[in-house]
Amino acid sequence: MTRPAAVLRWSAQRRPAIERFPYHAVVIAYQHHGKHFVPAYWTQALAAARDQVTHLDGDTRHLEAFLAGALDKVDGRFDYRSYLGLALLPIPAVDQTPGAAARQLARRDRLHAQLLTDLIAFELRAATDEQTPLPRMRPTSAVAAKRLRHALRAVMPALRRLSYIAEPSTLPEIDLLGRVIAAVNLDRSADERRALQISMLPVHTIHDEWMFIRVLQAFETTFALLAADLTEIIGAVRAGHTSRAATTLSAAASLLRESATLWPLLATIQPAAFHAFRPYTDGASAIQSRHYKLLESLCRRPDGTRLNSPAYLSVPEVRTAIIQGQVSLDDALDSVEQSAAEDAFLASAMREFTAAITQWRQTHYRLAVRILGPDRTGTGYTQGTPYLNDARTEPVFRHCPSTGTDAGGNR
Ligand code: HEM
Repeated sequence: MTRPAAVLRWSAQRRPAIERFPYHAVVIAYQHHGKHFVPAYWTQALAAARDQVTHLDGDTRHLEAFLAGALDKVDGRFDYRSYLGLALLPIPAVDQTPGAAARQLARRDRLHAQLLTDLIAFELRAATDEQTPLPRMRPTSAVAAKRLRHALRAVMPALRRLSYIAEPSTLPEIDLLGRVIAAVNLDRSADERRALQISMLPVHTIHDEWMFIRVLQAFETTFALLAADLTEIIGAVRAGHTSRAATTLSAAASLLRESATLWPLLATIQPAAFHAFRPYTDGASAIQSRHYKLLESLCRRPDGTRLNSPAYLSVPEVRTAIIQGQVSLDDALDSVEQSAAEDAFLASAMREFTAAITQWRQTHYRLAVRILGPDRTGTGYTQGTPYLNDARTEPVFRHCPSTGTDAGGNR
């Protein structure tokens, strides 16, 4: 079952069709072995397929990104982005065309809904079907039920905005779960289905890793949208559209608060399961999250110490953009008239956003301490939780929104 015959057949063709690549067979094999343990006959077959791809006409980007992710460990390039298959997912992007904000929010909501619905379907299937992938360390039925309840809570706001589910629902939870899966699946395009399927290459075969990956992908989707929102907010401030900037920032704060429902879901992870697969994720840490660092640096230019620490050395593209003069919201406020910089509505939105980020950092830190302990090192080559303890006190903005002055009291 796990021999790479389909891949070898595909590569043996004189001009293999890109769209006929046997993604499904590869994903099944990877989920069967775990990426870290995939036998060499698989990675060799995939490397041979990759050699073929370079000679093919047409758009090979998707297939190349998939193969880069599947071969990241043998290539010595395994990192956070390749672990999560971020290049394969339709993540929101910076978009400055008219109507972009609503479009990108819908894009975020669709992907958020698909990621969590996939998780719900996986948990339901695992409860009844022994053939479900990642068979080790299945949770008890009580933990699985709690997980499903939290997944439902985390997915509902997006489903309502997408009009997939009407409010309020009086259905019993199990029927509602079925309704959610049906509604999301019905509206899913073939490309979206594939993106979801091929972005699940766990390193091991432990049940909880599925949830871990989907939750990280869901947070990344929101960070990406927030980074796009901040780019738009900075543009609005510079163009003198202060109220538009304030409305968008307040909406961004709300979305970040809403996405905090992912934390209790992640908190259902079994610590022993996490510790069993974690050694094989070494080298892939969320400290490498470009979207998170972009979001952070679009609020305030990080000071020299942080810019030259693992926080930004782990995201070289973001660091370079900052060094080359990326404009933050703080910088934009410095460059506009004082009346705009002191706008009460914008100041209130900045306070809201600061509170949402601070809360995110606190919850993350608390969960990390609970799961790792206070002194365990991270997978991103930091000291682990002590690093997070320091990072959570980083000011979100230099401008102090309550007074219109900067943190040093200067106007
Ligand atoms: C089991 C749950 C988690 C644990 C134990 C954990 C632990 C850690 C640790 C120890 C670090 C420090 C960097 C390192 O050395 O790796 C870190 C950084 C980070 N984590 Fe997590 N994490 C967890 C879940 C998450 C989730 C779900 C997200 C959402 C994307 C996330 C986002 C981040 C980000 C953005 C950073 C970088 C923070 C900064 O540089 O200021 N983490 N995490």
